[in-house]
Amino acid sequence: MLTVTVNASKKYDILIGGGLLSRSGEIVRYLYRCKTAVVVTDDNVARFHLSKVTQSFESAGYQVLTYVIPHGEASKSREQYFALLDFLAENRVTRTDLLVALGGGVVGDLTGFAAATYLRGIKFIQMPTTVLAAVDSSVGGKTGIDIPAGKNLVGAFYQPILVICDTLTLSTLPDSVYDDGCAEIIKYGCIADAELFEWLKKPIRPQIDRVIERCVSIKRDIVNQDELDMGIRATLNFGHTIGHAIEKASNFTITHGQAVATGMVMIANAMFRLGKASEATYEAIRDMVEAYRLPVKTSFTEEELYDTMTTDKKRSGDRLRFIIVKEIGSCEYLDVRVEDGGDGITLRKVLKEALK
Ligand SMILES: NC(=O)c1ccc[n+]([C@@H]2O[C@H](COP(=O)([O-])OP(=O)(O)OC[C@H]3O[C@@H](n4cnc5c(N)ncnc54)[C@H](O)[C@@H]3O)[C@@H](O)[C@H]2O)c1
Ligand SMILES: [Zn+2]
Repeated sequence: MLTVTVNASKKYDILIGGGLLSRSGEIVRYLYRCKTAVVVTDDNVARFHLSKVTQSFESAGYQVLTYVIPHGEASKSREQYFALLDFLAENRVTRTDLLVALGGGVVGDLTGFAAATYLRGIKFIQMPTTVLAAVDSSVGGKTGIDIPAGKNLVGAFYQPILVICDTLTLSTLPDSVYDDGCAEIIKYGCIADAELFEWLKKPIRPQIDRVIERCVSIKRDIVNQDELDMGIRATLNFGHTIGHAIEKASNFTITHGQAVATGMVMIANAMFRLGKASEATYEAIRDMVEAYRLPVKTSFTEEELYDTMTTDKKRSGDRLRFIIVKEIGSCEYLDVRVEDGGDGITLRKVLKEALK
């Protein structure tokens, strides 16, 4: 088992290893004793992994309640959020009890937000079961739901007391969902870890434990410095500025991982063409994305992307901030002007070059 410790507003461990779910009750009991543990999961994850958790918690002496939501982003909704709060209240779950989020980012974000707000906050544990949740959403304390005006517009920074990442759960993921999470792994290599990037040239599944450990260590280092996302945490958005535009323009039919993968290749291409980074860096990112069966190009036009991006929430004033990778393993900011005219690089110029 590998352990990474986060030192944000709360200190907590991330445990990574195969088979941890069957021991989860015993592990948690050592950290936090209470009467009731409420395990929230989705229907897909429940089918494969729920019984291991309930049995383990029951053997460890907890009363276990389970709450199963339908899988998919649509469950990160006001309706599901309030239904979960109602369930907790009807079952007289108290502030000293515990919520457990067993699943991907959807379950984690919804459960985390319910934990942040139910009775003004009750303790919760993340048990990520997708690659994306393991390397990204289960760590760092961002929780929330979607509203019709946009994704993740309502939420809270609220840290779990523990993250248990049982890497055996990843073996039941559909290949496309597994690959999707690999886009974030490639991102971590690009922005912070050239050695991790090298590891990714070999098959990922046999080394997934150490890969997850590296990714969450990078995220941990960033979150420790900037928990509330006011500065350096933005570097985790490499590939996301264009990626979000692709996701949005496709009405979310293109997945987050696919869109981010394309976004990373496109911004690397633009930086190479604008003389800000080498061709070798661009090619390395493109080849890696391709090797993980993720798309390197988009069919959206400059105009479509421009329109979507100018309503992006990351825009501050008349400038838009890109994260750029000059060499694999480090990154910097590049602020570009949204409007045309004057000197320097504009958003249109970036998009034009990115699409070449
Ligand atoms: N909080 C954060 O910091 C953060 C960061 C990145 C993304 N997110 C959020 O995460 C969400 C996406 O997360 P995701 O990609 O994990 O999606 P997801 O939770 O929808 O899971 C993807 C699919 O895989 C299924 N699944 C999950 N685990 C499985 C398993 N072990 N075996 C078989 N099937 C399994 C799910 O039922 C679902 O159909 C988005 O809502 C996004 O906004 C949050
Ligand atoms: Zn992402």
